Amino acid sequence: MSGWNLFKMIMIGAMVWSLGGLIIAPIQAQAGVDAKELIDNTCSTCHRFSGEPVSRLKLKAPDLKWGGNKYQHNWLVGFLEGKEELLYPNGYRWDIQRKQADHVKLNAEQAKAVAQYFEKNLLDSRIEKNAFSIDKLTEREVELGAGLFKEYSCLGCHQVKEDGKKIGGPISANLYNSGKRYNFDWLFRFALNPQDFTPHSGEYLADISPLKLRHLLGYLMTLGVDNYPLHVPWETPAFKQTNTDNGKLLYKQYCVQCHGAEGAGDGVGALGLTNPPPANHAKMALSELPMDYLYNVVYYGGKSVGKSPNMPDWGLTIHGQDFVDLIAFLRTNFKGGNEPEVVASSAGASSGDCTQPRKTKKAPASFLNKKNPVSDSASNISAGKKLFMKDAKPVSCLQCHGKKGDGRGPLGGGLKPKPRDFTCAPMMSKISDGQMFWIIKKGSKGTGMMPFNSLKDKQIWQVIRYLRTLEK
Ligand code: HEC
Ligand code: HEC
Ligand code: HEC
Ligand code: HEC
Repeated sequence: MSGWNLFKMIMIGAMVWSLGGLIIAPIQAQAGVDAKELIDNTCSTCHRFSGEPVSRLKLKAPDLKWGGNKYQHNWLVGFLEGKEELLYPNGYRWDIQRKQADHVKLNAEQAKAVAQYFEKNLLDSRIEKNAFSIDKLTEREVELGAGLFKEYSCLGCHQVKEDGKKIGGPISANLYNSGKRYNFDWLFRFALNPQDFTPHSGEYLADISPLKLRHLLGYLMTLGVDNYPLHVPWETPAFKQTNTDNGKLLYKQYCVQCHGAEGAGDGVGALGLTNPPPANHAKMALSELPMDYLYNVVYYGGKSVGKSPNMPDWGLTIHGQDFVDLIAFLRTNFKGGNEPEVVASSAGASSGDCTQPRKTKKAPASFLNKKNPVSDSASNISAGKKLFMKDAKPVSCLQCHGKKGDGRGPLGGGLKPKPRDFTCAPMMSKISDGQMFWIIKKGSKGTGMMPFNSLKDKQIWQVIRYLRTLEK
């Protein structure tokens, strides 16, 4: 059918409806649109509404046999009205014509009628209700899902938005509004085996555990959604009724083996773990640590924040109220760490010398001599200060390096080697900006200093501008 005929048909459809609409009360207005006729005459020239799944290379447009399960109502209506961006950046059949063609536009009433028709008639019996849950999704899980999206090649074929910019291989459907678009039950069934829907389409089946699938699909369900209602475990009533004795028992059962009976980092595991050793909790103010960080580092383990994989992820082992009680014990029992320390000086250093022994590897030459490309303007320094004090993720620099930058933050006392003391001018004058940049970006392997790959280069340079103001 030519584009013009199609246009005429839709216009006739619209006119027929509007005549009907004048006479009939709004509730019955739908009766003016014969969704089935519209679908049979127009939509099925491109889409299939029945039949067995076939290769994309035999289709003109996505199959809609499961159209009643796949979409959220509002998205579908919006798409049919032409209010949503097209999905395939280079056309559905990029092998034939590599461009997006405008999609048929329906008026609001037609779109609604078609959506309702889908929801009543295009149901796929393979799709179960509530077969999988993403209830109580947390911010951390969404972050992990975003990581899995890249780790499992999804970004290779699907675009998403990062800071408003489209990234990824423009091969298949974009996913930047996937949280507004999919019904979760469809998405889960699709994920079990995409080939059940559109075989030989180029999609692949990822080798992924149910928990990781929860994170990945949870992440997709947040995309394009304003204020997705995320679960904040430590704001639940469970956290108001804690039993620290139970927490203490759990600490003995699971943590003492590395962290020691009194938390001094001297458990039996410490005999072989040195790079870095288990943290000395007795010298940490876990009471002051932001809750999200403490909760997540214990739940998801050291590697989840770029730290030692020898710190296990406990979330699957220690459940529900037990986990809550353990966190409560850590917070009430470990309050030290802020007391001034005599800084260990390297052998031969004269007393009063603040120079620390550095375990840090030397940055490659190309970084070592890099000049800071951001100026020392007040605004760069204050942007750097904000990251240092509060905003850097997974945890701010202050938590280890201290409010004053002297290495005495809540976690600082329990780490070996100690966090760098940025106030020590004799030492800092020998550490170049490029060296600092490299370590902030990549971390210092075998020490408590994790990589901050969530920071943009410019932000790292701004933090360095701030650090330079601390030298005394
Ligand atoms: C000329 C061919 C053509 C006609 C006619 C057509 N479509 Fe489409 N449709 C497409 C193509 C191509 C896409 C993929 C476009 C994109 O988003 O990049 C698409 C996408 C869709 C989608 C989203 C599919 C997905 O990826 O999940 C829906 C829903 C849809 N069409 C419904 C309809 C309805 C309802 C009609 C009839 C009113 C219709 N289409 C008529 C070609 C057509
Ligand atoms: C090698 C390319 C490729 C990779 C890698 C890939 N996909 Fe796909 N994906 C496709 C293709 C092709 C389709 C099928 C589109 C069609 O023909 O209907 C698809 C379909 C989808 C759909 C349904 C799109 C729709 O609305 O119909 C979702 C959701 C999806 N993929 C998610 C993922 C996720 C999550 C990952 C990572 C685990 C992933 N994909 C990895 C190519 C890929
Ligand atoms: C197999 C040894 C091992 C066990 C068992 C272990 N940890 Fe750890 N833990 C480590 C190591 C190693 C580090 C240091 C990680 C780093 O700095 O890279 C660490 C660090 C930590 C930290 C500090 C994180 C930071 O950002 O500096 C906390 C808090 C912690 N562990 C809590 C626990 C709790 C609670 C348990 C028991 C449920 C536990 N650990 C059991 C090895 C262990
Ligand atoms: C979990 C604790 C921790 C956090 C959080 C942390 N650091 Fe560190 N940092 C350390 C430790 C420990 C060292 C010492 C490593 C060594 O001696 O190799 C260090 C060393 C450094 C160094 C010295 C590099 C060198 O070559 O001597 C710089 C620069 C640095 N950190 C910057 C930062 C910045 C900026 C942040 C925040 C974005 C940050 N750190 C957050 C623990 C931390």
